[in-house]
Amino acid sequence: MELPKRYTITAALPYTNGPIHIGHLAGVYVPADIYARFMRMQGREVAFVCGSDEHGVPITIKAKKEGVSPQDVVDKYHKIIKKSFQDFGISFDNYSRTSAEVHHKTASEFFKKLYDAGKFTEETTQQLFDPEAEQFLADRFVVGTCPKCGYEESYGDQCEKCGTSHNATDLINPKSAITGSKPVLKETRHWFLPLDQYEGWLREWILEGHKKDWKSNVYGQVKSWIDDGLRPRAVTRDLDWGIPVPVEGGEGKVLYVWFDAPIGYISSTKEWAEKTGRDWEPYWKSEDTKLVHFIGKDNIVFHCVIFPAMLKAEGSYILPENVPANEFLNLEGNKLSTSKNWAVWLHEYLEEFPGQQDVLRYALTANAPETKDNDFTWKDFQARNNNELVAIFGNFINRVVVLTNKYYDGVVPKPGEFSEVDEQTLAELRAYPAVIASSIERYRFREAQGELMNVARLGNKYLADEEPWKLIKTDEERVKTIMYVALQIATALANLSEPFLPYTAEKLKRMLDYGKASSEANEAAIVEDDRENQWEQINKESVLLPAGHQIGKGELLFSKIEDEQIQKQLEKLEATKAANIADNKKAEPQKETATFEDFSKIDLRVGTIVEAEKMLKANKLLVLKVDTGLDVRTIVSGIAESFKPEDIIGKKVTVLINLAPRKLRGVESEGMILMTENASGKLVFLNPDEDGVKEGTVIS
Ligand code: 2FM
Ligand code: ZN
Repeated sequence: MELPKRYTITAALPYTNGPIHIGHLAGVYVPADIYARFMRMQGREVAFVCGSDEHGVPITIKAKKEGVSPQDVVDKYHKIIKKSFQDFGISFDNYSRTSAEVHHKTASEFFKKLYDAGKFTEETTQQLFDPEAEQFLADRFVVGTCPKCGYEESYGDQCEKCGTSHNATDLINPKSAITGSKPVLKETRHWFLPLDQYEGWLREWILEGHKKDWKSNVYGQVKSWIDDGLRPRAVTRDLDWGIPVPVEGGEGKVLYVWFDAPIGYISSTKEWAEKTGRDWEPYWKSEDTKLVHFIGKDNIVFHCVIFPAMLKAEGSYILPENVPANEFLNLEGNKLSTSKNWAVWLHEYLEEFPGQQDVLRYALTANAPETKDNDFTWKDFQARNNNELVAIFGNFINRVVVLTNKYYDGVVPKPGEFSEVDEQTLAELRAYPAVIASSIERYRFREAQGELMNVARLGNKYLADEEPWKLIKTDEERVKTIMYVALQIATALANLSEPFLPYTAEKLKRMLDYGKASSEANEAAIVEDDRENQWEQINKESVLLPAGHQIGKGELLFSKIEDEQIQKQLEKLEATKAANIADNKKAEPQKETATFEDFSKIDLRVGTIVEAEKMLKANKLLVLKVDTGLDVRTIVSGIAESFKPEDIIGKKVTVLINLAPRKLRGVESEGMILMTENASGKLVFLNPDEDGVKEGTVIS
């Protein structure tokens, strides 16, 4: 596929009211970084920009709570956030902040241009006002019942539960988040972006134009908003924290934070261009440029409807080519939450796991919430490291480097004639860059990283089959060829892992002294056009590490993570839970509220397992026959790794008998057995009184 020349890659500007946690990383920053690093390796011109989102109500609420100024809040968190991104290796070309002068200027001018061109409507409307605090209640200053899903703690601008974006006056039973009092309506004048006028254009551009290439979660959300009908959206607020409205009548008002924040991408690009002597305009105005926004799912409407409408109204900008929004990551079964301290904070991780940036990157990508919400667990993190990074990737590299040093003093041996297996292995290796690239270009980072690990698996299998450590006693010449092939695989891994595991790639290149080898090879073999395309070089060149090249010293790529380290993290979370219970902090909703009618649909019965057997060719499934008291039915259950069939015959269980039947591996399952987990994560039949089943454990 012919890729565009220039990429403007944006990552959601984080709110500056708390540090970065793993949810932010998995949803936005790690995939954006993989994409940006990959595109740079492809020789594209990349501007990967971000910055702190320093306006908006959450920041003023935090400042009030802490008894400091909003500026103090943003200064504190901007510093923490910027440093943690840097220490984690997110390769932003520029990390700015919305309090920067360049941003105030850019956002003001953008507003003024739309204002002068008559793109806004002006309306005097009744807005919610807190008489006690003597202030208008914009956005998060007001909470109430969501008109769409009925969630009672919805914010004025957006419901955290169903994701709907609305106006504060739409809320049922609103109350002030500042004083708790009931707001009154008071007249005020504001500027609106008439989104209704953009409906036809949005339909054509997204619903018709991007049906195939946008992720279905993004496309689906946008379609439902457009189908619900778009309404004019106020782009100014009665607040004293933000960018002053730069037109007559704007005194005492500021730009709506969601008007100024996405313009932050433009100002960050300008700041970068200024610093590096570039021209920023092609990155935002040239048709040769591909604009991609990396965001979390709560930001979809702003990036797919409101910001594009702003860009379209302005007229001189390109539009996003794609908005690969992710779903959410949970932590140990519960929603991540800054206010409830239910998080793995990046700056703390970096202190507690020094030098292990890539392990977190790897675990987050392996479990990325690309198509549905996913759960981060410390046990999974440990398993990903110990069973995959250490046991597969690290093990292969270690064998190659140790044997090369042992047999040849670190000099790449000259191969003899390739066997069929060698040819096949090298051909397979050469296919990987295109396979991985295709996944990355389709924003399937999880799949791409899986393929990267398959390169290490290929290497392990090759060595295990060829057994150079045995052959060295009988056929030294053959071992030279084997080690030569293995070294090519190791070198490809050093290259291909760069977008995913940049610290590992660097270490590995150092171990192989690859920088030197590749510049020598470049001089000799690369045609001018490909000089820049490091990625494709990997499959074009048959020799990545030439015979005679001296590799460097062995280093440990990954180290085992011990149970105690994981236990410490779990204890930290337990302490957070206890503190929240002591403070009587209510949990945020984990799922949509179920009405009594919803619940009454569920038909739960006590049943007895009368037969159980393993499902053929399925490690996790048991086929059960369950006596429900009404009938004996077949239920396929994913419990084969926890129970032996013979041990559960005669067990009394809780059965959901009116679950829609579904076929699993050709067997129709007519219900579900309810299960939970004990303290060591083992599946147990539902009996909350059993030892080790904790409060909050999910029943499923
Ligand atoms: O949800 C958030 O964290 C917002 N601060 C994202 C803003 S993205 C952009 F538009 F700036
Ligand atoms: Zn809602």
